[in-house]
Amino acid sequence: MNYRHAFHAGNYGDVFKHVLLLRLLRAQQRKEKGSLYLDTHAGRGAYDLGLPPVPGRKDRPPEWPQGVGRLWAGTDLPPALDEYLTLVRNFNEQNGAGPGVLRFYPGSPWFAALVQRPQDRLAFWEVQTDEANALRSEFARWPRTAVECADGYGALRATLPPQERRAVVLIDPPFEQPDEFGAISAALREGLQRFPSGVYAVWYPVTERARAEVFRASLRAFALPPTLWAELAVTADPQVRMKGCGLLILNPPWRFADELPALLPVLAGKLGADAGAVARWEWLVPEA
Ligand SMILES: C[S@@+](CC[C@H](N)C(=O)[O-])C[C@H]1O[C@@H](n2cnc3c(N)ncnc32)[C@H](O)[C@@H]1O
Repeated sequence: MNYRHAFHAGNYGDVFKHVLLLRLLRAQQRKEKGSLYLDTHAGRGAYDLGLPPVPGRKDRPPEWPQGVGRLWAGTDLPPALDEYLTLVRNFNEQNGAGPGVLRFYPGSPWFAALVQRPQDRLAFWEVQTDEANALRSEFARWPRTAVECADGYGALRATLPPQERRAVVLIDPPFEQPDEFGAISAALREGLQRFPSGVYAVWYPVTERARAEVFRASLRAFALPPTLWAELAVTADPQVRMKGCGLLILNPPWRFADELPALLPVLAGKLGADAGAVARWEWLVPEA
């Protein structure tokens, strides 16, 4: 596998995913009881934006300036974006970036760890050995955290149902395989069978509109719990292959959806590449 998330770290897809992940975790924390956070495709945990993402290839421009770079100096942001940025700023300070300098970007494991409560548990799965080793050293001394170097789709079988009976599961594959949506469907089916009340969030790229729609339609073949999807298109330019990204959320926690109208249009405004930028969200299966 050639995929290295470093090339994409902090891009608009990461910002969209991490902002919504934080909202999911915060909504889950409205109940005192502990919760598992399972990250099936965790990456290396932290990214140095100052390094060339592909060793020896300084020619490929980094993606983060069009992502977190667009928010970095932001003021007067909605509280959800404010919290996201505060975590990124603190992460930079803790890692030794100079005052006000954006040098490091936290991956999804760190976003979960930075808002973890003492009663919460974290489980990170990553299949590439070097990425998993980097992740292990990031979290070597972090409490209530396990890192597995293995196929993340197997994580649902290995960890669900969790002892806490509460979990947020992020499924964030690289979409390098031709049938990644098929693998995700199979994983969701198994996850729901083992643990029907879990919160499952799936990140996906919007490349050809039809594929995300076909994926969502295919999920109707099995009994879905309340399910919401949110998408951010950064451009309507037909020349651009990846026009945006989305997050599908099964069993969104109570009041999570209420936050979207104040949040997603602001994100589309900040991250959009042209006037075609837009955010959409819709219930696939509404709450009862
Ligand atoms: C999009 S990146 C993850 C980014 C991370 N979730 C974040 O937001 O910071 C996808 C990761 O999945 C890993 N990966 C690919 N196939 C996998 C599999 N079958 N099981 C677990 N990890 C896998 C890749 O090595 C890569 O690090």
